[in-house]
Amino acid sequence: MLVSENLGVNEKGHLTTGGVDTVELAKQYGTPLYVMDENLIRKHAQSYKNSIDKFYGGNGLVCYASKAFCCLEMCRVMMDEGIGLDVVSIGELYTAYKAGVDFSKVCFHGNNKTDEELEYAVELKVGRIIVDNSYELERLDKIAEKKGIKANIMFRIKPGIDAHTHDFVRTGQIDSKFGFALETGEAMEAVKLALNCPNVVLKGLHCHIGSQIFDINPFVEAAQVMLKFIADIKNDTGHEISELNLGGGFGIMYTEKDDPVPYENYMEKVSVAVKESCENLGIKLPFILIEPGRSMAGPAGITLYTCGGVKNIPNIRTYVSVDGGMTDNPRYALYKSEYDALVANKADQPKNTTVTIAGKCCESGDLVGEGMPLQEVQPGDIIAVCATGAYNYSMSSNYNRVPKPAVVFVKDGQSKVVIKRETLDDIIRNDI
Ligand code: LLP
Repeated sequence: MLVSENLGVNEKGHLTTGGVDTVELAKQYGTPLYVMDENLIRKHAQSYKNSIDKFYGGNGLVCYASKAFCCLEMCRVMMDEGIGLDVVSIGELYTAYKAGVDFSKVCFHGNNKTDEELEYAVELKVGRIIVDNSYELERLDKIAEKKGIKANIMFRIKPGIDAHTHDFVRTGQIDSKFGFALETGEAMEAVKLALNCPNVVLKGLHCHIGSQIFDINPFVEAAQVMLKFIADIKNDTGHEISELNLGGGFGIMYTEKDDPVPYENYMEKVSVAVKESCENLGIKLPFILIEPGRSMAGPAGITLYTCGGVKNIPNIRTYVSVDGGMTDNPRYALYKSEYDALVANKADQPKNTTVTIAGKCCESGDLVGEGMPLQEVQPGDIIAVCATGAYNYSMSSNYNRVPKPAVVFVKDGQSKVVIKRETLDDIIRNDI
């Protein structure tokens, strides 16, 4: 089974992505190589956008969480699809700016934004700055005053919902570094503070409960908690919050064990719950924002490696070394995330062996995965690791001074480089 719908096997027995032969791509561009299928990215963007149109009367905005994978071309594709952006640093803001993104559709996140970042966001007239704490609120109010611009803000709220996912990517619970807590009264205090800040406009509330979540119920519960807080704010202060940002977090298929729901179902269920709650609470239907990252980019990507040495340790395991590893995909080292892999030039053959795919860094933990079913593999074969479009390139590093691979987009049988492979001169470019 192939984990992403755009993958296939051609008459040569080679793995294809978006109809393009991956073995040819490896030959043309070298390895390691990230390959992303542009049509699949666009398809996901459209399905999220259409779900808001279909189930919520179009009263919302999809903002792609660019931390999943950010570059100029990705920003352009999102813009072309009418999708906004969630950015989380000055680097992502700058990339969006250089791509010519419409900043009214940008949400700026971060739990410790610097003055420089806030100033830049205010200058760019970012549509929504998601304020994380009171210290940030006070600084932002002053910065906005200095620039003579009113800043539109949302508050990041911890809704107290426990999403069942990896500890490192759970964010909605009270013990989290992100946002204001509801239980302690901290969130209501911050609202009152904001209403007294003349240079900020409190447009909305935001929550994000975690990532790689398969169950829709925690999202529905989070929406209900947030709407209840919107009603409490109205009752306490008379202020009507007009926007609700429900964050991202929708799970994707990495291996056969994962069973994601169709993306449309999310808005379908959430819309029903939102409409019901608003009616019960006597509040207006909010404009809804969602911020999918992984599900937009993840399934569209694969990473191609060349197999180096194969080390069989009898009765223990077989190590298959590749020409990349934790530098281009640190997710196994960080979260023990499982991936599906196959030998791209033998994709029509059965997976007869079980291997550990090891990277090339001087580090025992530099593994792409353990216990991975794979075709019989030899040095020189091309190994494809699937569903690497999100949080791979964006989390890559130059550990061991390994240059970062190129990123290629494929579309309608054609391929083009969207991020160049780093050169050795790139490696020393900031050295003095
Ligand atoms: N919105 C906010 C405020 C976020 O913090 C995130 C992800 C998203 C949206 C997008 O979530 P997604 O749809 O991609 O699940 N590096 C980790 C994932 C960290 C997610 C951080 N925030 C990983 O590789 O699994």
